Amino acid sequence: MSKTFPPGPTSQELLRRIPSIQSDTLTFLTDISQRFGRVVGFHIAGLPIIVINHPEGIKHVLLDEHRRYSKDTLQYRALSTVTGRGLLTNDGESWLQQRRLAQPAFSRQRLAHLDDIVIPATEAMLEGWEPLAQSGQPVDIDAAMMHLTLQIVGKALFSIDLSRDAVNLTRATLTALDTIIYRARNVFTPPAFIPTLRNLKFRRALKTLNHAVAEMVSSRRNAGQPGDDLLGMFLRARDEDTGASMSDQQVRDEIMTMLIAGHETVASALTWTWYLLSRHPEESIRARDEINRVLGKRPPTVSDLEHLPGVGRIFSEALRLYPPAWVISRKALEEDEVLGFNIPRNALVVISPYVVHRQAEFWPEPEQFHPERFLSGPPHRFAYLPFGAGPRLCIGYQFATLEAQLIITRVLQQYTLEWAHPQAVRMDALVTLRPHGGLPMHLRKI
Ligand code: HEM
Repeated sequence: MSKTFPPGPTSQELLRRIPSIQSDTLTFLTDISQRFGRVVGFHIAGLPIIVINHPEGIKHVLLDEHRRYSKDTLQYRALSTVTGRGLLTNDGESWLQQRRLAQPAFSRQRLAHLDDIVIPATEAMLEGWEPLAQSGQPVDIDAAMMHLTLQIVGKALFSIDLSRDAVNLTRATLTALDTIIYRARNVFTPPAFIPTLRNLKFRRALKTLNHAVAEMVSSRRNAGQPGDDLLGMFLRARDEDTGASMSDQQVRDEIMTMLIAGHETVASALTWTWYLLSRHPEESIRARDEINRVLGKRPPTVSDLEHLPGVGRIFSEALRLYPPAWVISRKALEEDEVLGFNIPRNALVVISPYVVHRQAEFWPEPEQFHPERFLSGPPHRFAYLPFGAGPRLCIGYQFATLEAQLIITRVLQQYTLEWAHPQAVRMDALVTLRPHGGLPMHLRKI
């Protein structure tokens, strides 16, 4: 086994840059990838950190040798304070069992009628936009996409109507995620039991979310019929060996995971799509021409989407430039070697889809919004990772892709969205990538 630790910034440089590494992690990751190349290594507080920037190294960690890596990292430990040991943060046998259990809810057959849920929810949002469009008042697209995607995931996976509670629940989600990112970035935070203002806000947000999930479970249990949606699958599930059903805690963790992983990510991707389209009106016009040709004014169905490849390319390119999950982390369970460099046992391994998606070696003119680059597939399977890769690939990737394309199509049929300011938006790399201060946009009816 090679003993060469990867090149990287010195301890002095790291010490000097710590505040900016915390506040602007993406600039730091981009900078070190440009200076040190494919695999970068350094230590913080004695912990070896390895950043992998090359698709072949990423394939090694996420696919070929995935068993040597776990999700026991600061990122996922912080996330599990909200999601518990749901599918996203779980590992090993227990993860595999849960993944197998949940997978049928995301089958092609199940998703074939996703438009039955996505389109009415989108129409309701668009109706609410009419008075704003008439009065010229901007709409906060970031918040609007959060409310919409939460309602969709609630209805599609758990058959519940969250339209009344969406505002409160998305606010609670954002507060909880805010604390998660704060804890993931600041190792020396006051423990959760100390009643700091942040901890109190977090507790309140968690209570709101827990209450919503507990209600979903109890009303389904009271109904006497588990139902055939994902909640029903969780309630009916029995361990093959012991025959035991999932504990209440496990059911709670899985639902919370799906609600959170299944809406904030899609909302972030859609928000950036609207931002990019407003900066590139020619792309909106092109997509609208395609939509008019295929659908006229009729709302899209899932089966229409294959005839709207331009819409698909716009969404793929938005995910390239602004991948909501901008960092993927793993812990090395044993010593390993990646592209000739040593990965010590217990090292934190970091992969940033954002950084990889902007490498000129794989993506010509990487900063430019060019949906046509997706006329052919990505230049390397592991140079495009908005949904991760390998066995831990996002379970909701087809769900998210269909949902987003349906929403983009329906909105484009009725509105042009214009970013209310001439300057570029600032980006906050939180749990997902978000526009700093929201994204107020003006609505122009078609
Ligand atoms: C554009 C939208 C989305 C993006 C960008 C996204 C991104 C990701 C990524 C990168 C991972 C892998 C993380 C890792 O390997 O460490 C992941 C996993 C996951 N995602 Fe998504 N996701 C999206 C939508 C969804 C939706 C709609 C759902 C559910 C309805 C969902 C549920 C999950 C779950 C449960 C996992 C964990 C899967 C496992 O480890 O078995 N995601 N997602």
